[in-house]
Amino acid sequence: MRRINFQSELRSVFKEIGQIARKLGYSVYIVGGPVRDILLGRSFQDVDVVCVGNAVKLAKVFSRRVKGEFIYRRRYPNATVKWNNSAKVDFVSARSEVYPKNRIGLPRIRRTKDLLIDLNRRDFTVNAIAVDLNPGTFGNLYDPFNGLLDCQKKLIRVLHPNSFKEDPTRIFRAIRFSMELSFQIEENTKKLLNRDLKFLKQLSQARLWKEIKICLNDGSDVLNYLKKFGVLRVLNFSYPGQGFLERVDVGSIQFDVNPVNTLILALIEKKPARCYSFERSFIQQINYVREINNKALRNIEVVHKLFKLEDYSLLFLFARYPKNSIIIENFFDNREKLKPELNGEDIKKLGVNESPEIGKLMKRIIEGRWIGKISGRNEEVDLVERYLGGKDVSW
Ligand code: CTP
Repeated sequence: MRRINFQSELRSVFKEIGQIARKLGYSVYIVGGPVRDILLGRSFQDVDVVCVGNAVKLAKVFSRRVKGEFIYRRRYPNATVKWNNSAKVDFVSARSEVYPKNRIGLPRIRRTKDLLIDLNRRDFTVNAIAVDLNPGTFGNLYDPFNGLLDCQKKLIRVLHPNSFKEDPTRIFRAIRFSMELSFQIEENTKKLLNRDLKFLKQLSQARLWKEIKICLNDGSDVLNYLKKFGVLRVLNFSYPGQGFLERVDVGSIQFDVNPVNTLILALIEKKPARCYSFERSFIQQINYVREINNKALRNIEVVHKLFKLEDYSLLFLFARYPKNSIIIENFFDNREKLKPELNGEDIKKLGVNESPEIGKLMKRIIEGRWIGKISGRNEEVDLVERYLGGKDVSW
């Protein structure tokens, strides 16, 4: 029997959980991501504890013991305990899952007393290994699907042939884990993944985009993987090109922008925004970005459009139009200096009647700053006076 030696801090927390569970008449295990990461010598943040018994009750007692925060979730149900600012353990009761037969949807869930049934509902062998936290058997590995061997062979392997069909989000998970862990997707699993790609189209928009965002958080290279495994093709997404992805990487560091939404803009570039149920503000950004191209970027009036864009949209333009990327760079670097010092009231005081002309003058001032003709208040006042003198103030 293989045993896990936890580092001392974890060891005492896990022992505590095991002892509380024993008193309550339950048994407990850690399962999934943290076990996989311990076996691979990787660091991990969240610990998932599976309780054969009432996980919420266990979490409640544990939270009192460590004087932590107890967070109850009605779904499943489960609970999280947070303490010492950073430590966090999720408690969930061992359960079985039965998926709907004729459609893609969430499974029907039942509590089970059999840990094997809980492990059997999981996605990949490397995520279906449990470590025993119970007194007497503490640290023992329970590995009914040979996940340890797959960790050693660096393979992502499903537990049964219907895994992707039942839960197509696992297609993203397989690709993401293979990328994150530098694992291969095992040959038969690859065939099943390919066979079941079509079920991705049946996922609800909410589940689909949640999974895509998790993937994109891993960086732009994930798009190459999604392309390689046929996901982009099946979902009718655009592949923006390696050059674009490299410029996104450079720009996201240079301008300190999270590129997830930038990459989404690229994926849906060739489809009307109304095809997706995005939030209104994001749809607005899609429309603004699509009004701009190389020609528009060279027009000084583009500056007003750039002000309407979120940073991720600016990053998109930076990567999409490399011939004019300097314009976006300039905007990122100088946008604070582009704002007029004069406000509407000041312009009125200089003698301009209340009218749309005030807005137009403000725009001319911004453009003057954008092209380097105005750098301070005096030059702004000059422009207003030129206007009052009947002169053309366009640039
Ligand atoms: N799981 C699953 N199918 C899914 C999602 C999750 O079988 N579609 C199971 C896996 O056993 C997984 C566990 O639930 O290990 C916890 O899921 P999650 O926290 O999303 O992933 P981790 O494996 O912990 O990996 P990470 O947090 O590193 O993404």
